[in-house]
Parts: sequence; structure tokens; C-alpha cells
Amino acid sequence: MCRLLNERMTGGIQGKTSVESTGPTEVTDVTDVQQQDVVDVLFEQHIQIKSLFSQVAAAQGARKRELFEDLVRLLAVHESAEEEVVHPAARHNIEGGDQVVDGRLHEEHEAKQALSELYDLGVDHPEFDTRLAVLAEAVITHATHEENAEFAFLRQNIPAEKLRRMAGALRAAEATAPTRPHPGAGESATANLLAGPPIAVFDRIRDGVRDWNRSNNGN
Ligand SMILES: [Fe+2]
Ligand SMILES: [Fe+2]
Repeated sequence: MCRLLNERMTGGIQGKTSVESTGPTEVTDVTDVQQQDVVDVLFEQHIQIKSLFSQVAAAQGARKRELFEDLVRLLAVHESAEEEVVHPAARHNIEGGDQVVDGRLHEEHEAKQALSELYDLGVDHPEFDTRLAVLAEAVITHATHEENAEFAFLRQNIPAEKLRRMAGALRAAEATAPTRPHPGAGESATANLLAGPPIAVFDRIRDGVRDWNRSNNGN
């Protein structure tokens, strides 16, 4: 796995972190991480996604390709867990869940399409940065909708222990996600997009989350 993304992902799921008190509960020590619930992890990943969009926009050449691949991977981990575990739980447990979730699924579908188009375009295409900025805006708006209309209500309506178990969906997604060869494998290996088209990455990770879901009896 890319060192940078590895640090981000382990920072989000397993590492030490600190976040705004208005969102997830603050985690002050690595020993508290096992107590993180799914809402904590999702909030943290929203922050990581926003940061990664900015980093892709600022990078050039092979580094830009690597960071874009990291972005595809992180979005696939995050959105797959949401689609398979978080949104179904919200649909059944929060007031007006159908309307809230249907809106979010539509946004996620649109984003996935846009991500695929960006992949086909390639990071060196003159339109890439403009279209990346449009997607970033859409994904950030989507994340805000989730935080305000969905995540805030999960804690009110789902028992804390179940929310903690649901964080396992993110760990399962992460474990299934394709990894890039270590930088020591050589420049030609690291310069290529190795994870495959976004749709394939999303499908692979979604299958991993579904397996986790089945073995956990729907959480
Ligand atoms: Fe989402
Ligand atoms: Fe999200």
C-alpha cells in the first residue's frame, strides 16, 4: 500500500487522531480506537477525502496518478461501506430514512460515474483538473448532506454497541482494497495505475463488505 494512503487509512481507523467536537467523539489515545464507532470513522474519512482531492489537484505527473489512485481507493472503501451497511441501517432506523438514503445513493452513483470518466480521461488531460474540481465540489456537498441528514441521527437511533460493530465494515473494505506495490518494486510499477478502473475497484471492495455483512448477520 502507498505509504501516504496507509498513514491516512491507519490514521483514520487505527491510529491516533483528533477531530472537531461537533462531529465524532474525540479520540485521544490509540487504546480508545477500538471504541470508535462507524460514525467516527466516516467523519474522519470525509476529512481525508477532502484533503486527497486537494493533493491530487496540486500534484503533477506520476505523483498525480498515484494520488488519484489513492483517491479512487479511499472513495471505494468509504462509499462501499456506506452503501452496503450504513445507508441500509439509516433507511430502517431514522425518520424519513428512505428519502434521506435515496438522495445519497443518487449522489454516490453520479460521483462514481464522474470518477470513471476522470480515470478514462487520465490525469494529464487538459480538462482533468477542471473536471476533478467539479467532482470534488459534488463529493464535499454529498458528505455534508450525509453528516447533517444521516450520521447525526444514527447515534440517536442505533445502540452504541451496534455502531461500534458497524465500524468493522470499514475495516473489511480496507482489507479488501487493492494495494499498490511497494515503491521498491521500481519506478515503472509505481508510475502505473495498478488498481484498475474505478468500477472494478468499487465492485471488488463492495464484495468484501458484503462478505463481512453476511458473516456478521447484518451487523
Ligand atoms: Fe457517501
Ligand atoms: Fe460519506
